[in-house]
Amino acid sequence: MLNIGRNRNQGRPNRSMSLGMGSMDYADPKKKTNFVGKIILAATLTALCIIMLKQSPNFSTPSRFSIHEQGVTHVLVTGGAGYIGSHAALRLLKDSYRVTVVDNLSRGNLAAVKILQELFPEPGRLQFIYADLGDAKSVNKIFSENAFDAVMHFAAVAYVGESTLEPLRYYHNITSNTLGVLEAMAAHGVKTLIYSSTCATYGEPDKMPITEDTPQVPINPYGKAKKMAEDIILDFSKNSDMAIMILRYFNVIGSDPNGRLGEAPRPELREHGRISGACFDAARGIMPGLKVKGTDYSTPDGTCIRDYIDVTDLVDAHVKALEKARPKKVGIYNVGTGKGRSVKEFVEACKKATGVDIKVDYLPRRPGDYAEVYSDPTKIKLELNWTAKYTDLRQSLAIAWRWQKSHRNGYGTSRVAA
Ligand SMILES: NC(=O)c1ccc[n+]([C@@H]2O[C@H](COP(=O)([O-])OP(=O)(O)OC[C@H]3O[C@@H](n4cnc5c(N)ncnc54)[C@H](O)[C@@H]3O)[C@@H](O)[C@H]2O)c1
Ligand SMILES: *[C@@H]1O[C@H](CO)[C@@H](O)[C@H](O)[C@H]1NC(C)=O
Ligand SMILES: *[C@@H]1O[C@H](CO)[C@@H](O)[C@H](O)[C@H]1NC(C)=O
Ligand SMILES: *[C@@H]1O[C@H](CO)[C@@H](O)[C@H](O)[C@H]1NC(C)=O
Repeated sequence: MLNIGRNRNQGRPNRSMSLGMGSMDYADPKKKTNFVGKIILAATLTALCIIMLKQSPNFSTPSRFSIHEQGVTHVLVTGGAGYIGSHAALRLLKDSYRVTVVDNLSRGNLAAVKILQELFPEPGRLQFIYADLGDAKSVNKIFSENAFDAVMHFAAVAYVGESTLEPLRYYHNITSNTLGVLEAMAAHGVKTLIYSSTCATYGEPDKMPITEDTPQVPINPYGKAKKMAEDIILDFSKNSDMAIMILRYFNVIGSDPNGRLGEAPRPELREHGRISGACFDAARGIMPGLKVKGTDYSTPDGTCIRDYIDVTDLVDAHVKALEKARPKKVGIYNVGTGKGRSVKEFVEACKKATGVDIKVDYLPRRPGDYAEVYSDPTKIKLELNWTAKYTDLRQSLAIAWRWQKSHRNGYGTSRVAA
């Protein structure tokens, strides 16, 4: 059974859930179409929580998640129901970490957490807490009821195009929520933070490749919100013992080579989607073709150049960062392959990986994009002994495609897996 908000969090998730949903529907009447789905979700989660309360034979004894245990590192994974967070949680669990996932399922999938729970059912391995990181009171409660040793903060909104249309959503859910997590960590003495940042904080530098010293001049609200969050963390670090690692990812692709997890963004985000999702949607015939936005960039074939990092390598970098994090020290690292590939190259690799001759439409540029971005990964190699291993684009896409093909509805139409 899914271990949702064990111990005293049990009453809380449905409370914070109904509050969160009420205020969202109030704040955002556009979302009305989802209303019935949300009611069903709320009812199901509430029922689950009640069942768990009734069945839990020992809910008066303190949960393992609430005590520090020698030799066990308890990691809070925010956004752990999302694409990268779920892969990170899987790797942490495999490496014997204790994991708490906090996610409000605004963009993640409960079914992904359920899969992890089935793989690691032993008590004290994985718990899921449904909560909104924008709600300082529930965040504080979570930190006071759980003994975290480290936080991997993935939860965010993460689409460049969407950020140009809805900037406040980005400043709120990235910058402000990161401040909230940091405050809770400081208040409760949590010693290590691994922060998900992005190459979008660099903007469009004139010199490639990008090193960690490349000036950060973000050109869209997503990059700016992440840069502000980094600044808050860095200022805080100057007078704190916290061990901090900031990882600036380049473009993340791929999925679990064993096919247990995949990338399944909400259908309504398709228009903002990332290139691999768009390729797969075209290959599956969900979309009539692939729209390549911008063919007049100053790059060899006119399409944008990006550095594609496989999610398996990315989560490996997180574990290495966690192992090497030291009190009072801040490590900032690019996480990329060091190799730029054009959108045209990517599309060719995707055609081969899927075996589908995807139809490609070439359209004008979209706002907020930059021509060329690839990393210099020297520093992370030197200091964390990390290098990208899954650097064959076609192979990474083939692995992701296998999951996509066998999960036509993503993790399923219902957010609460049956
Ligand atoms: N995917 C990429 O290419 C990429 C590149 C660079 C950086 N990143 C960063 O990596 C992190 C994870 O990205 P992803 O691609 O896995 O995104 P995702 O949308 O799949 O996952 C984000 C998760 O956070 C949760 N979440 C969002 N707001 C929340 C809130 N207020 N309270 C609780 N949960 C909340 C969502 O429900 C979702 O499960 C983000 O910080 C993103 O900025 C991603
Ligand atoms: C999830 O969190 C966001 C960000 O704070 C909030 O605005 C939204 O209403 C929450 N969604 C749900 C389903 O609780
Ligand atoms: C983010 O913040 C805005 C408020 O600016 C809110 O309306 C929205 O629901 C939040 N959550 C997500 C997941 O975007
Ligand atoms: C670096 O990593 C490799 C495996 O990728 C390992 O064989 C080697 O021992 C590591 N080096 C150090 C100094 O830890």
